[in-house]
Amino acid sequence: MSDPGTVRIAPSILAADFACLGLQVAEAERAGADRIHVDVMDGHFVPNLSMGAAIVQSLRRVTRLPLEVHLMITSPDFFLDEFTQVGSDSFLVHWEGNNNLHRTVQRIRALGKNVGVAINPATPSAALEEIVQDLDQVLVMTVDPGFGHQQFIRMVLPKIARVRELVERRTPGCAVEVDGGIDATTAPAVVRAGATVLVAGSSIFGDAEGVTAAMKRLRTAVDGTQFTELAGPTASQRSR
Ligand code: DX5
Ligand code: ZN
Repeated sequence: MSDPGTVRIAPSILAADFACLGLQVAEAERAGADRIHVDVMDGHFVPNLSMGAAIVQSLRRVTRLPLEVHLMITSPDFFLDEFTQVGSDSFLVHWEGNNNLHRTVQRIRALGKNVGVAINPATPSAALEEIVQDLDQVLVMTVDPGFGHQQFIRMVLPKIARVRELVERRTPGCAVEVDGGIDATTAPAVVRAGATVLVAGSSIFGDAEGVTAAMKRLRTAVDGTQFTELAGPTASQRSR
């Protein structure tokens, strides 16, 4: 059992070499990955296509790590059963474009899976106010979703701190995850702002020295980095 204060790393397989996906995920697991992030895109909610439940089914056979499915699709409700049947452990669904977000969240709960809501860079933290109490995690996008290897949007940093503050106030067990442009350079600032889980794709699977070296570099970059952005009473309540 890892220390609850430790920052979790969730490698995103979007940047992996699909010809040797099992080997790359196994290497990430050996190198200390905490979960595997699976980016599902439908060419409609975002302007790109990626992967579906078949990938989760294959991964389920080669790793014991939790598989979290980030649904960047127009109708997430239609696919929850299928992804659950093949072994998904958690779902991240977007706030944007979902007129039935509570229903989607409750469906995921009814399936016995962890649930998180994602917000895009231009979506304010207040969007989470009325849903955060029902969540296991929130996902703050630090790029517009749709592609790997995009540039980290620094403007999102103060929002991460606001989201962490909201979480501490309303549902302290809820994880604050960030996704997009995370590498050893950008990670310390997002952890200081309040992130507890880092999604990283190209900085791990696209590293010239390999997955193990990349995982080590990211872990080293955040080791000892503290969540420091909050002011006032919530800062003294920090225990995670
Ligand atoms: C972007 C995806 C991310 C992506 C991150 O739409 O949600 O999970 O894989 O890739 P990097 O880490 O390369 O920005
Ligand atoms: Zn993602």
